[in-house]
Amino acid sequence: MTSPKTYHVKSFGCQMNVYDGDRMGELLSAEGMTAATDADSADVVVLNTCHIRERAVHRVYSEIGALRRDDGTRPMIAVAGCVAQAEGAEVAKRARDVDVVVGPQAYHRLPALLAEARARGKAQIDTDMPAESKFDALPTRGPGRPSAFLTVQEGCDKFCTYCVVPYTRGAEVSRGFEAVLDEARALVDGGAREITLLGQNVNAWDDAGRGLHDLIVALDKLPGLARIRYTTSHPNDMRQGLIDAHRDVEKLMPFLHLPVQSGSDRVLKAMNRSHDTASYLRLIERVREARPDIAISGDFIVGFPGETGAEFEETLNIVRAVNYAQAFSFAYSPRPGTPAATMDAQVPKAVMDERLQRLQALLNEQQYAFNTASVGRRTSVLIERKGKIAGQMLGKSPWLQSVHVVDPTLKIGDLVEVDLTHAGPNSLRGTAPMKLAA
Ligand code: SAH
Ligand code: SF4
Ligand code: F3S
Repeated sequence: MTSPKTYHVKSFGCQMNVYDGDRMGELLSAEGMTAATDADSADVVVLNTCHIRERAVHRVYSEIGALRRDDGTRPMIAVAGCVAQAEGAEVAKRARDVDVVVGPQAYHRLPALLAEARARGKAQIDTDMPAESKFDALPTRGPGRPSAFLTVQEGCDKFCTYCVVPYTRGAEVSRGFEAVLDEARALVDGGAREITLLGQNVNAWDDAGRGLHDLIVALDKLPGLARIRYTTSHPNDMRQGLIDAHRDVEKLMPFLHLPVQSGSDRVLKAMNRSHDTASYLRLIERVREARPDIAISGDFIVGFPGETGAEFEETLNIVRAVNYAQAFSFAYSPRPGTPAATMDAQVPKAVMDERLQRLQALLNEQQYAFNTASVGRRTSVLIERKGKIAGQMLGKSPWLQSVHVVDPTLKIGDLVEVDLTHAGPNSLRGTAPMKLAA
């Protein structure tokens, strides 16, 4: 086989995987390879996988199968991400077409692993969690999207009883203050106007006593950067400094993703969430005092083992009490090796589905109401991509709503002032853009 010249990275799962996928692309580019337009034409395909729910895992194996081409050939295939970490060598046993299996803490070695696989004609597995940071081995960020991700914290020590993340991503580790600022500067030089700080528990970020809010205050001073976001936060790591930042830091967007998972204190305890509904509601109140217009988002799991009908009703109640701007909700999926997978009283699928439908109906209603209440506002929109209609551009409001604007003079990366005129369940329309000064 001649040496591969093009690559394609396909990421599944959370934003941290999107970040990792971009970084793997940059590593391969640094090797002299170029990005292919799609998987079909690429010499190397990286599937950057997610292990969070069973369905996400099944998908990986069907994706691998689909990479076989009509003429019987296939690209080199690397399986990265959380399935790689969780299943290791099993991936290559189950799918013979796989050349490399590489975990989320070892992907800086991807080019070397691909070379090794080619040289030996044998699958290479690397699921180490090395002590040295992979970040030090990654290339400097180049030109990129107007809205960029920046991972500042990885791993999780919380061990919620349903969740694989502590096993697939390892212990909580924060990157250093200066390293993060350097990367932020490079992203802004490369065209980023908005940076979203990422971590499985991003608000647990810490460098010698400095917390996430210190990082946000420092980023606020970065010329050229217009917007700062962060995700995902854990209720127990929500410090006063971060809450105050929502009042004091102009560039920090009025949006908080703060998963509660359930509205039942018994279920929260069984989940090992270490917060209860009262402490969560108090927290939301404090955040809203600091920033009254803040959009609150969350994650929910229905059908956790033992969840009764009455406990599910409590989840609907907390949703009503909070009034979410948007949220993600999932049917519980038993994950091998997690404590909840072997708990008694697993909830039947039909019951879970019915609960999920009712929860989603309520959340959709709230999201639509939030969008409708935005109509009439004049607000900033960061243009991120082209829409389907000619001249239509898509961007995000400060509250992370998708906004469509029809104006052929707009370019990707523009920050424009828009009058919000129409609301739909999932997006808004706006008009009369005026360009804001950089
Ligand atoms: N660190 C974040 C997000 C973790 S994963 C947090 O603590 O909130 C994203 C979401 O997936 C979780 O918030 C949870 O709602 C959901 N999730 C995790 N494990 C799950 C499982 N086994 N079944 C169903 N949903 C799950
Ligand atoms: Fe998973 Fe809980 Fe950690 Fe979030 S806090 S990543 S849900 S173990
Ligand atoms: Fe999935 Fe791993 Fe993210 S399991 S949600 S890709 S941390």
